[in-house]
Amino acid sequence: MSMHSITRRDFVRLGAGAVAAGTAIKSTLLEPPVLAAQAAAGDASGRKIRFVSIGTGIRGCDLLRSARQVPTGVLVGTADLYDMHQKAGLEAYGADVPTSRDYRSLLDRKDVDAVFVAVSDHLHRRVVLDAIAAGKDVYCEKPMSHNVADGLAMVDAVQSNKRILQVGSQRVSNLVYKKAAEIYTSGRLGEVHLIEGHTDRNSPSGAWVYPVAPDASPQTIDWEAFLRDAPERPFDAVRFFRWRCFADYGEGLAGDLFVHLISGIQGVSGINAAPNRACSSGSLTHFADGRDFPDLLATLYDYPGITVSLHCNQNNSGGDETIFYGKEATMVISGNTLTVTPQDTRPEPEGYSLDGWTAAAKKQYLNEWHAANPAPPAKMAAMESYSAPGDYDDTADHIANFFRAVETREHVVEDEVFGNHAAIACHMANYSYFHHSVATWDAATQSIKG
Ligand SMILES: NC(=O)c1ccc[n+]([C@@H]2O[C@H](COP(=O)([O-])OP(=O)(O)OC[C@H]3O[C@@H](n4cnc5c(N)ncnc54)[C@H](O)[C@@H]3O)[C@@H](O)[C@H]2O)c1
Repeated sequence: MSMHSITRRDFVRLGAGAVAAGTAIKSTLLEPPVLAAQAAAGDASGRKIRFVSIGTGIRGCDLLRSARQVPTGVLVGTADLYDMHQKAGLEAYGADVPTSRDYRSLLDRKDVDAVFVAVSDHLHRRVVLDAIAAGKDVYCEKPMSHNVADGLAMVDAVQSNKRILQVGSQRVSNLVYKKAAEIYTSGRLGEVHLIEGHTDRNSPSGAWVYPVAPDASPQTIDWEAFLRDAPERPFDAVRFFRWRCFADYGEGLAGDLFVHLISGIQGVSGINAAPNRACSSGSLTHFADGRDFPDLLATLYDYPGITVSLHCNQNNSGGDETIFYGKEATMVISGNTLTVTPQDTRPEPEGYSLDGWTAAAKKQYLNEWHAANPAPPAKMAAMESYSAPGDYDDTADHIANFFRAVETREHVVEDEVFGNHAAIACHMANYSYFHHSVATWDAATQSIKG
């Protein structure tokens, strides 16, 4: 590959050093983890975790399709306030279990161990707190909270009732991210002070312009239940199906997409704290359809010793990537592939500044440099890449981790503290964008300050 034929992105992905040195790539296909989940089922007593699912819309159905692959749990009921989503949930799991518009009827059941919560974000707090009060363990979709107060209340409820909460940013269980965490903690990247992440989606679907279902009406949707904890307003199907666009129910790009990037970064780097500061820029240009949130958001975060730069953009070039820039190597996670490219830090004589030197001075400098550095440069380490199989489902693994914790009372991979920190980072991004100021996390008062 000539230097002229590679794009800037290729250059970042491959690493300048590797391209220059023509370094070989060692590729590894990681073992499918669903096998691990199934093996875990073999060890267990055979008792299955009996769970119900509250909210069986887009994500609720995906969760149920993934849960079917996890033999340690069994679905025993569902609830959704929209009739078609109730039916879709049953179809997704392939089960004929009781279903209801009112989730509280499920929480009263003594035979239920655990609850999936996949309702719109503004109702996470209420449903999770009700489930905990009923003595259930909870798998709550990301972002954990709709605002800082909700997150703090959820942390308190989980801890004071000794319940298990798994937050649903499934990449924390993803075997590619686990491999990345192993490499990061080994120190092979050298010091890392900058992490970059982006999720770019250049389409109406990427901007949540979801169709309104033909049967949507106040008869098929319990609009009052949807509006609980949100301001009163007449029935509005656009708000129901595109709730991510509106601050009453969602958090826009930060809550939908930043949260995955941040959770992945927390999982790999071991950061488990709210950022000290966040500064956002952005705009609403492509999808100015009455929504509250921008369609471009870029945020710079300060974590202790690490700068994190995130953006979500209406352009497809970047895809979904997280890049860890180390002094010794660059690690890129792109979708389900991880690449580690060593930095070429072998000593070499200074070149650029010699352009202003005379030929004689240049010669003398180079002679002296080579005399002081007689050894041939060490061979560069090979580039490494690790991939998950094409059909890998990290959600199944995340669910398996949750069921195992419910059974053993061991820790989940993404608990309430981790999930709350990731969500606070999202709320700080939005605070900064809407207040046109830097957002600071005040640990003493557990609040965001301008
Ligand atoms: N982990 C992921 O990759 C991922 C992907 C998509 C969405 N999500 C999250 O999943 C959650 C749901 O998102 P979605 O895309 O499925 O939205 P959705 O609108 O398709 O589904 C939400 C469902 O919850 C139901 N609902 C709301 N309040 C309810 C209540 N009080 N009782 C019963 N049902 C209620 C609605 O009727 C709807 O069917 C959100 O928190 C979202 O951020 C996570």
